[in-house]
Amino acid sequence: MKQNERASFGSKLGIILATAGSAVGLGNIWRFPYLAGENGGAAFIFIYIAFVVVLALPCMVSEFIIGRRGQANAVRAYDLISGGGPWRVIGLMGVLTGFLICSYYTVVSGWCLEYIYASAAGQLKGDPDYIQRFFSSFTVHPWKPILCIVLFFLMTHVIIVRGVEKGIERASKLMMPLLFILLLFIVVASCLLPGASQGISFLFNPDWHAVTGSTLLAALGQAFFSLSLGMGALTTYASYFTRDTNLTKSAAQIAGIDTLVAILAGLMIFPAAFSVGVSPDSGPSLVFITLPNVFQQAFSFAPALGSLVAVMFYALLSLAALTSLISLHEVCTSYLHEEFHITRSRGALIVTSVCTVIAILCSLSFADYDWLTLFGKSLFDLFDFTTSQLLMPIGGFLTCLLLGWFVPRHVVKDEFTNGSTLSARLFAVWLFLVRFVCPIGIAIIFLNQFGVI
Ligand code: PHE
Repeated sequence: MKQNERASFGSKLGIILATAGSAVGLGNIWRFPYLAGENGGAAFIFIYIAFVVVLALPCMVSEFIIGRRGQANAVRAYDLISGGGPWRVIGLMGVLTGFLICSYYTVVSGWCLEYIYASAAGQLKGDPDYIQRFFSSFTVHPWKPILCIVLFFLMTHVIIVRGVEKGIERASKLMMPLLFILLLFIVVASCLLPGASQGISFLFNPDWHAVTGSTLLAALGQAFFSLSLGMGALTTYASYFTRDTNLTKSAAQIAGIDTLVAILAGLMIFPAAFSVGVSPDSGPSLVFITLPNVFQQAFSFAPALGSLVAVMFYALLSLAALTSLISLHEVCTSYLHEEFHITRSRGALIVTSVCTVIAILCSLSFADYDWLTLFGKSLFDLFDFTTSQLLMPIGGFLTCLLLGWFVPRHVVKDEFTNGSTLSARLFAVWLFLVRFVCPIGIAIIFLNQFGVI
């Protein structure tokens, strides 16, 4: 590579796996199955897929266009495509979101590491009360969660410092197939349990009566978070795409992988939960309280298999979290590296250090310290809320306005069609969606969550 040549992903497979790695994360495993189960099973899955196609995919292509055109970090990429001016704020919001998500996401990712160890060491055996106490005492333990956070950041840091091709791409090519193998193994083990078919039909029987207005909003919000939209991660990765990458096709493949993983996560959780008559919930309590009980009871005929499934499950979660964290870290690192003219390693060191400190504060906020509570929310909840409910939808909305209405049409079309080498058949449809459908859709979820409409 020449001195000043910008880094890029080395292969098409690398592009797809790295970007799908950003998308596939904790959101797919702890939220999607629950949302589907609560909102009419297959009915929710249909609606979700429709929203992914009509709303999320056009936004993803928009972020790809901005990133690949700019060949730079998110802030500069927004600056370049808009010809300077206030639009760079979207990139800056992305970097801020990256810092914040990186910090709280690592807290939960760290818990997964501890749970790999705890399942392997047979510590997660006991009645439901015990499992509940295990979780609550671990989260407020003075140093264990902090050690896990530091370990998780170290792994992320090492991968980021190695660079785009040798670090991010290579790690994704290794971790994503492994994630699939673990997922498939647990799906098979779960679906073979006695009574598993009830869980399968719960997930796949469309119950259209369960669909309400809030189902639509839940599907839309989930699509955005799950596909890592609205915060510069996709823009940053797209800046490493090669010139001949077909942006629409790649977006469709990435969204396809992300949705497949989410559905498979449902097939991993529901059959096992139904076979022991437990109704699954979502979020940390699903992963760290309900599921350890489910694994233990469902595989009580072969406890060693139960422990193996549990270890594999937490390893799977850790991998999913790690590939997402890498993309969050990269948004911040590439910004510091390119805008402040410091080396990539120094940029990464700053991001890792700052995020580790904030993550430790987020982790401590579980112990209900008053000084870590703001606006009535713990630091952890506050960051979660600010990013997924405020910054990401605003970022997605503004991105659509920018590409749909402000950037000259020929510039956008040129990038969309790789300089007219690809068919422009879908361009008009995409532009219509980005101009009207996406901003209106995002504005509706955004305003609705604050009770405005
Ligand atoms: N998409 C990730 C998930 O589903 C979360 C994420 C959001 C990752 C934004 C990167 C950027 O968990």
